[in-house]
Order: sequence, then structure tokens, then C-alpha cells
Amino acid sequence: MIPVTKPFLPPIEEYQPYVKDIWDRQWLTNNGPLVNELELRLKQYLDLPHILYLSSGTIALQIAIRALDLHGEIITTPFSFIATTSSILWEGCKPVFVDICPETLNIDVSKIEDAITPHTSAILATHVYGNPCDIDAIDALAQKHNLKVIYDAAHCFGTKYKGKSVYGYGDISVASFHATKLYHTIEGGAVFTSCPELLKKMAFMRNFGFNGPEEFACLGINGKNCELHAAMGLVNLKYADAILEKRRELFAYYTEMLKGLDMKQQVIQKNTQYNHAYYPIILPSEDLLVRMVEMLNAHWIFPRRYFYPSLHTLSFVDRCECENCLDISKRVLCLPLHNDLSKEELHLVIRIMLRVQNY
Ligand SMILES: Cc1ncc(COP(=O)(O)O)c(C=O)c1O
Repeated sequence: MIPVTKPFLPPIEEYQPYVKDIWDRQWLTNNGPLVNELELRLKQYLDLPHILYLSSGTIALQIAIRALDLHGEIITTPFSFIATTSSILWEGCKPVFVDICPETLNIDVSKIEDAITPHTSAILATHVYGNPCDIDAIDALAQKHNLKVIYDAAHCFGTKYKGKSVYGYGDISVASFHATKLYHTIEGGAVFTSCPELLKKMAFMRNFGFNGPEEFACLGINGKNCELHAAMGLVNLKYADAILEKRRELFAYYTEMLKGLDMKQQVIQKNTQYNHAYYPIILPSEDLLVRMVEMLNAHWIFPRRYFYPSLHTLSFVDRCECENCLDISKRVLCLPLHNDLSKEELHLVIRIMLRVQNY
């Protein structure tokens, strides 16, 4: 079987000593030493001033929305994972969808201003598949209209924009370290900010709001992560550069071998060091996509329609027009891409796709 993605697993011998130490210490969670060490190592690796390691990317989004005290309308993209929209709703705000640019697949900044109303409090944009949004234009708009900016950077481990980790932009950036991501801690996520006050607030929020054993600084939630997950993060961090390099090679190989396929690819933002997190292709029609998926599945190959359906069509959001997203989401397919994938497997995927197209 060739799945769309597969969690990276380091040699078990490297994880076991951490497990033994955890057993010896009997400290499993609640701001343990491995969580602290992971935060330190990630800050060093990413060269960023602050990070809070959390239980998931979704809780990170929710904490970010709370910490910025957002209310009313949040402008967002319909082309993302469900958690981008659901966290807005979960926090009692209203998602206002702005269509995407059909080339970068990120929110179309030229359409944001028309969507701003007196109720707008923020922009929550996703760097889709690890491709940075038009960060400079979004920042300029946010300043002009006094809006906060959260970036859903769930796909962005390893991506740099203008030489700096893309997690370093926006009022708050959010990462996911879920097992399917190129760098993972099994389950996990993080918030990044350059603002010490926001950091402090979010640190209280991730631990029920506790400020000492008998005092609460604010309303909080359980957003903590545990020692076993942090241990996986510490071991996996040693492999991050090799994983990024392997992805780059596989990505280049796909591109070379798929030259004969009638498809478009996402345009990557300028000044970007891209992490090759996914291999999305945009096919000419949904019909061709469905036929390709069926044929690949028949050979036990499982690409994924990601992101589909478009979030503005969900039954629990207000309907609106987002033509580009509606169209792209029907024609986009993420091909298998993971660290264990061999060139032979990749070749099989490519051969089948070309055969379906030429049939
Ligand atoms: C764009 C995006 N945002 C948020 C999330 C949620 O992250 P998590 O699964 O860590 O909660 C994901 C997960 O795949 C994602 O792709």
C-alpha cells in the first residue's frame, strides 16, 4: 500500500532511553523537563524568540483567538483544513470567507478589504501546503484597519520567508506537530509570538489559567502536552534536516516525471525557502481526478483530496461565493509524499496517472 502520508518513526532505540528516564522520574506531564527541553531546542532550531508547545494545532488556534480577545468577524480562507474554520466558530466568532488566489492557493489579499466591516477583528490565513501567504500585504492591511493577524502555519515546519521561519510572522502563528506532518510529536502543536505579554497570557491559558496552585490569572483550558510526546519531538528534531532534504528530492522527481501530465502546480511565494510538505496537483477536471483516484486506489495507492470540500460550503457556516475555491477544491489532489517513499513507488504512481490521462 502507498498512503498519501506516513508518520516518520525514528529508530526505536533512540526513543527508549527517554521512556526509561520518564519512568524513573515519574513525571509524565504538567510542564515536565522534556517539554521544556523541546521548547528550547525548537526555539534554537527555528531561531525564534518564543514558543509554547501545546497539545494540538487546533487547541493552538483556539488559544490564539482567545489570547487576542477576538470577537465578531474573522476574515479567513475557505481553502484549509476544517480546524481553521471550526476554531473560529468554537470561540464564538464568525468566519467571513474571502476567496483564494487560484495560483498560490492562499487567501486572495486583493479581496480582503471588501470583506472588512466594523465587526471585523482579525485575519486568520493559512499558509496552504507550507506556501507563505502574501505576508507583507496582509500586514499592511491589518495595520491600516487595526486588525490582528493569526497565521495557520500547520503545514510550515521548515519553511522560511525572507530568511526567517514563517512561524515568526503575524501576531500569532500556529503550528501542528500531528503525526502526519513532516516534523511531528505524535500529537502536538505550538503558538509563536514575538510579544512577551501574549506569550505569558497563552502560557496561563494552556494550563487552565493557573497562576500558582491556588490562583487563576485568566480563563484557561487544558492545552498542555506530555513528556512522551515531547520525547518523540526531541528525537525527531535530529532528523528534521534529512526529512526536509528527502522531501525536496522526491518533490523534484515527481515534477520531472510528471512533465507529460496536464496539470497545474501551486505557485510558491517569492523569497521563500519552501519545505515541500505536500505534492498537490491541480487537474483540468474533477472527472479526471475521480478516474485517477479510482485507478490509483485499485492499485492500493491512496492520494488525498485535500482540501475538499471547500469550507465555505459547510452546513454550519453562512453561505457565500468563493468561486475559485469551489473550483480548485474539486480539482486538487495531493499525491503520496513521505520519508519512506522510494523512487520505484513514486514511479508506479506516476505511470498509473499518465496511463489514466492518456486512456
Ligand atoms: C491547515 C491546518 N490547520 C490546523 C490543523 C489542525 O492541527 P492538529 O491536527 O494538530 O489539531 C491542521 C491539521 O492537519 C491543518 O492542516
